[in-house]
Amino acid sequence: MTCSNNSIDAPFTIKWTHKLRLTNSSFTEGGVLDSLLATLQPLKILVVVDDGVTSNQPFLNSLHKWCERTGAICDEPLIVIGGEAAKNDFNVVNSVLEAINHNNLCRKSCIIVIGGGAVLDAVGFAASTAHRGLPIIRMPSTSLSQGDSGVGVKNGVNYFGKKNFVGVFDPPYAVINDSSLLQSLDKTQWRSGLSEAIKVALIKDESLFEQIEANSKLLLGRDINAMVSVLQQSAKLHLRHITDGGDPFERLDARPLDFGHWAAHKLEQLTNYTISHGDAVAIGLSIDVACSVRLGFLDNSVAMRIVSLLDSLGFPTNHSELTNTEFLTGIEEFRQHLGGQLTLLMLKGIEEPTEIHRLDHEVVRQVINELR
Ligand SMILES: NC(=O)c1ccc[n+]([C@@H]2O[C@H](COP(=O)([O-])OP(=O)(O)OC[C@H]3O[C@@H](n4cnc5c(N)ncnc54)[C@H](O)[C@@H]3O)[C@@H](O)[C@H]2O)c1
Ligand SMILES: [Zn+2]
Repeated sequence: MTCSNNSIDAPFTIKWTHKLRLTNSSFTEGGVLDSLLATLQPLKILVVVDDGVTSNQPFLNSLHKWCERTGAICDEPLIVIGGEAAKNDFNVVNSVLEAINHNNLCRKSCIIVIGGGAVLDAVGFAASTAHRGLPIIRMPSTSLSQGDSGVGVKNGVNYFGKKNFVGVFDPPYAVINDSSLLQSLDKTQWRSGLSEAIKVALIKDESLFEQIEANSKLLLGRDINAMVSVLQQSAKLHLRHITDGGDPFERLDARPLDFGHWAAHKLEQLTNYTISHGDAVAIGLSIDVACSVRLGFLDNSVAMRIVSLLDSLGFPTNHSELTNTEFLTGIEEFRQHLGGQLTLLMLKGIEEPTEIHRLDHEVVRQVINELR
């Protein structure tokens, strides 16, 4: 602590352990969920479930059996609408706050949320703000949320038509990636986590990129072991970025994990969120990889290799809304969301990111023409 006549600077540190558990059967007696709760000892537990998960009957049966034998559970699980609709208004946030109030949950209680990234974001926001923060256990239910957003520390909803306009940084008590949840995903949601895995591999881990390349047929064919292996590594890379990257709450200008995301976020907005986040990221990556070539950073053969991989996994790498005149405003909106100067990531090679602070509209227009 430093003190002078009229100023005191007293630094403090909060110790936090980010806990990720990997399983294919969360509800086994004495399994991962039971042991996390044995440590947390919550007075009451509220379970919130994404309505998309209701198509996974075996998972729901196990959940119901677990609820029956576990004390402290409030009523029936609260089922909320899944997908971006969960974030586009405050209905999900309000229903969770109402359930917290109605069931008298306090800060010694706990919420278990089972859902895709959108439901995790909205329910996490409600949990973080009620009583200034209830512990939450996340069980991400999509490939994207198991490999990326679910292990993050961000929560929030969209407002004024802008992505994640209202939200907080608040780490969950723990994250459980249960691979049995992936079985009920449709084709688009199945592949969704792979574009984020490719993103993080391009920035941080060439061997993961090679693994996805080598297993692209298995991944496309819904091989669960191939998928779990990629998602686990993606989750670990995302998690390590948060715990060891020196900027868990994104106070700095650079946001390496948002590679390809300025375009992805704008495209989601222009399509009224009918495009999945994973597909939007695949297109965003294709654009930023092609920009990296145009700006003289990246060899065209590497860019082709990346775009071909996305293509072979079934991802779109182009969209009719890219020629919408509004599309390029995404660059400025991205800057505003981050605050400060524009910082975008480009690639010099795989595992060789570089930052830029300006991206000319003309460069992006040329790239969009090329992708067509
Ligand atoms: N907080 C963060 O750090 C962060 C990071 C990246 C993305 N995100 C957010 O995550 C959201 C995207 O999440 P997502 O890709 O997980 O998709 P999603 O949450 O939008 O869900 C997609 C669809 O899958 C359904 N679904 C969920 N689980 C299912 C299951 N097991 N079986 C069948 N259907 C299921 C949902 O009901 C929904 O219809 C976006 O809002 C994005 O902004 C947040
Ligand atoms: Zn993303």
